[in-house]
Amino acid sequence: MSEEVAARIRAAVAERGPISFAEFMEHALYGPGGFYERPPIGAEGHFVTSPHVHPVFADLVRFALLEAWDALGRPEPLRIVELGAGDGTLARGILLGLEAAGIATAYTAVEISPGARERLHALQPRVEASLDAVPPLDPGLVLANELLDNLPFRRVRRRGGDLVELRVGVAGPRLVLVEGPCEPELADLAPSDLGEGEEAVVPTGALALVGTLARVLRRGYALLIDYGSTGGPAGEVHGYRGHAVLEDVLEDPGSADVTAGVDLGLVAAHAEALGLVRHGIVPQWRALLALGYARWVEGELARQADLLAAGRGLEAVRAYEGRSRASLLVDPAALGRLRWLVLSTPGLPTPRFLAEALQPELGR
Ligand SMILES: C[S@@+](CC[C@H](N)C(=O)[O-])C[C@H]1O[C@@H](n2cnc3c(N)ncnc32)[C@H](O)[C@@H]1O
Repeated sequence: MSEEVAARIRAAVAERGPISFAEFMEHALYGPGGFYERPPIGAEGHFVTSPHVHPVFADLVRFALLEAWDALGRPEPLRIVELGAGDGTLARGILLGLEAAGIATAYTAVEISPGARERLHALQPRVEASLDAVPPLDPGLVLANELLDNLPFRRVRRRGGDLVELRVGVAGPRLVLVEGPCEPELADLAPSDLGEGEEAVVPTGALALVGTLARVLRRGYALLIDYGSTGGPAGEVHGYRGHAVLEDVLEDPGSADVTAGVDLGLVAAHAEALGLVRHGIVPQWRALLALGYARWVEGELARQADLLAAGRGLEAVRAYEGRSRASLLVDPAALGRLRWLVLSTPGLPTPRFLAEALQPELGR
């Protein structure tokens, strides 16, 4: 499969010279034979995301969405658009909870991956291949978990006082990074304080997505969850294959994920420039605590004790295992370090959970 991807990249370089890193990502992740052609997430796949760790994640995200829905005056049906919905694990959890609460919901899952769209169809929400195809939300909610860091980005390096763009070229049997001129529009988006030889990622794909979001979201909130910083350097480019971190992302394209943390401060500033309101960026562990994670743990402890008392030891062990797996969601050294960025259209209040998560004393 990935031979096909490498051949396509080589052909593009032969035709036009070194390609941007963003174009490399398009081929490696989203082209035919690319890494995301089939959903690669989960214990049997290459890495896990929060919804795959424990269903409590979907429950707590649902609470966040319901707070935003309250602020919108509880319009029914509740319109939710999930971007980069993957195999639908998060959508399934959210929809089950909303159905149980008797809330009429119109859920749209947006997925670029044909394999993921097949899985999503089984859930029967509306499925689209691009946010461009989604009718304006007026009102509605937008959700994305771990999408932005997978959107194509470009790379720059400070060289001799100037910025150069790092592009992907070919050297014999290998794909290699090569330095080329940096267009002024790209240089404008790069951090201004890069030292000699230092590199940065410019999240061009994430910024473009925010452009579409600002057009589609006429009234409502967006919750964007991703790895990255609240401003400035957001982490190295890396990959994942078979649950292991990969440093050389150019080797065997299509066989591994390619990602880098996102400067969410830059994303938020771009959203503000387009008329959206930035309510805040908080680490996931804070958001989940504010949404009732500790209460859920207490409930699970009580359930485990009841199961033991009733002689249902195996189920008690499962409850224990689930709770310990879920702790990854709030571990600041694991998934708890993901960041939640909340945006809205003007005139809407900051959701309660976010205001609480922004308080320094939370969790003390
Ligand atoms: C890291 S996965 C996260 C999947 C899911 N949200 C989760 O938490 O498990 C990123 C997903 O975004 C999808 N994706 C990438 N670019 C996209 C785009 N422009 N529009 C919609 N989906 C996209 C990929 O196909 C992939 O399923």
